[in-house]
Amino acid sequence: LSLYISGDTTARALGADALVAVLEVQAAAADVPLNIIRSGSRGAFWLEPMLEMDWQGKRIGIGELMASDAEGLLATLLDNPESHPNYLGEVAELPWFANQHRLTFARAGEGDPIDLNTYRALGGLQGLERALSLTPDAVVEEITDSGLRGRGGAAFPAGIKWRTVLGAEADQKYIVCNADEGDSGTFADRLLMESDPFQLLEGMAIAGIAVGATQGYIYLRSEYPRAQLMLNEAIDAARLAGVLGERVLGSDKSFDIEVRLGAGAYICGEETALLDSLEGKRGMVRAKPPLPALEGLFGKPTVVNNVLTLAAASTVLAEGAAAYQAHGTGRSRGTLTVQLAGNIARGGLIEVPYGISLREIVFDWGGGTRSGRPVRAIQVGGPLGAYLPEAQWDLPLDYEAFAQAGAMLGHGGVVVFDDTIDMAAQARFAMAFCVAESCGKCTPCRMGSIRGVEVIDKLVANPADTAQKILLEDLCDTMEHGSLCAMGGLTPSPVRSALRYFPEDFGLAAEAS
Ligand code: NAI
Ligand code: SF4
Repeated sequence: LSLYISGDTTARALGADALVAVLEVQAAAADVPLNIIRSGSRGAFWLEPMLEMDWQGKRIGIGELMASDAEGLLATLLDNPESHPNYLGEVAELPWFANQHRLTFARAGEGDPIDLNTYRALGGLQGLERALSLTPDAVVEEITDSGLRGRGGAAFPAGIKWRTVLGAEADQKYIVCNADEGDSGTFADRLLMESDPFQLLEGMAIAGIAVGATQGYIYLRSEYPRAQLMLNEAIDAARLAGVLGERVLGSDKSFDIEVRLGAGAYICGEETALLDSLEGKRGMVRAKPPLPALEGLFGKPTVVNNVLTLAAASTVLAEGAAAYQAHGTGRSRGTLTVQLAGNIARGGLIEVPYGISLREIVFDWGGGTRSGRPVRAIQVGGPLGAYLPEAQWDLPLDYEAFAQAGAMLGHGGVVVFDDTIDMAAQARFAMAFCVAESCGKCTPCRMGSIRGVEVIDKLVANPADTAQKILLEDLCDTMEHGSLCAMGGLTPSPVRSALRYFPEDFGLAAEAS
């Protein structure tokens, strides 16, 4: 009997290991040969621990399976899994999955994430093979034509970035993968690295071939030990099979990858602070220009891209720019991985084309709040993203539409709050977060955030003191326009949105719009 149970961090945190142990005991007692494949999670965290198996020609699932409820489980699986009370039916047919458009996460959950044969069988390495058959220029052209934009948050066109590095003259170039996924409520990078790590390695190798880099680094946050393990095992397997190393897939190109760990600073997700940290220095933001694309790691031309951007490059090369570009809306092409978190009934990761609304995501996929109370605010784009009230929930998920509304999609984190949330406390938290995470290089951020906490406290203590409100707005302006990087520059966004849409939480009357 072969079973699939995710070995990813979330499934394990929810009890997947205990479930595996119980099944192994039952199999030993019954003398039944049992093969448990620790697959990656498909991202339906609300169903984890989930068990899958092939049954009558279909991959079926049984969800929310706790070890404590697993008495007689093996016998049920052998006899008729459909009789289990938590039987879900065919996994791919569940509306939660069937309504998604999975490109980057198509393989997640299908099999052993660090088995290269499984990866190949599921379509892996086709992008790299194709890239090796093209000129570097044609590979970059393909990325440009696909419309792929950076998935870390800034949404900069990947093709333009790669083109800049390709055109730079240097004896050494680098590919750096930003895997310092620090936004609250986000876990897409982690899930990709734990569920389909070869896809990231393949994307990095494609980037290396495209721009003429022979070395890649994955800068991984230290809070992701499972991803570290999976990546290192995948790198070893890829080297052994000739996918990485001196002659990539037998070609005359060489490319290798190393994983380097961060040490827990949010700011090291900012690309230049990341590069400093990777060079062994304290992670401090560098002034731009020079752009990392021209003077990046150790002063050499460097592609710095997020995990999902590099992973998507393998899909673009495998399926062609036109196929990728066919998904999405406006200038937001391809798919967006949305991470549903906070007070949400069905939390997890979904992959959908750009253009659908926040309301659909939170209610159709997420099922509303976990508490059952009304949704009051949704924060999109991490701790520096705006809090959106109901009037904004029909916004299409599209970079430009969000920017127009004073919000940002960021890395696709969606954190839901019910009507018990105190938005003044959330605004204060944004400033306090900036106090804790500021690298300290520039005054608007370093000092502004400290003053921000004080001013919010004074305003809440005495809402009639209009000078504090004016001061807070003024401080937000200074941080927004005077900060060197997005940390200080975007902290005003959650603060302003809380003030604008939820003034009553500060004891203020709503402003006429
Ligand atoms: P940015 O707009 O300054 O730059 C975007 C990217 O394009 C950078 O890699 C930059 O080097 C590159 N670039 C710009 N012009 C270029 C050119 N002509 N040629 C080649 N490359 C060029 O944005 P930044 O400061 O890098 O990122 C800010 C974003 O980061 C925010 O919007 C936020 O959403 C996101 N963020 C993501 C987090 C996460 O956990 N994923 C955490 C915090 C913020
Ligand atoms: Fe550092 Fe903040 Fe200035 Fe960014 S805005 S450089 S984090 S002090």
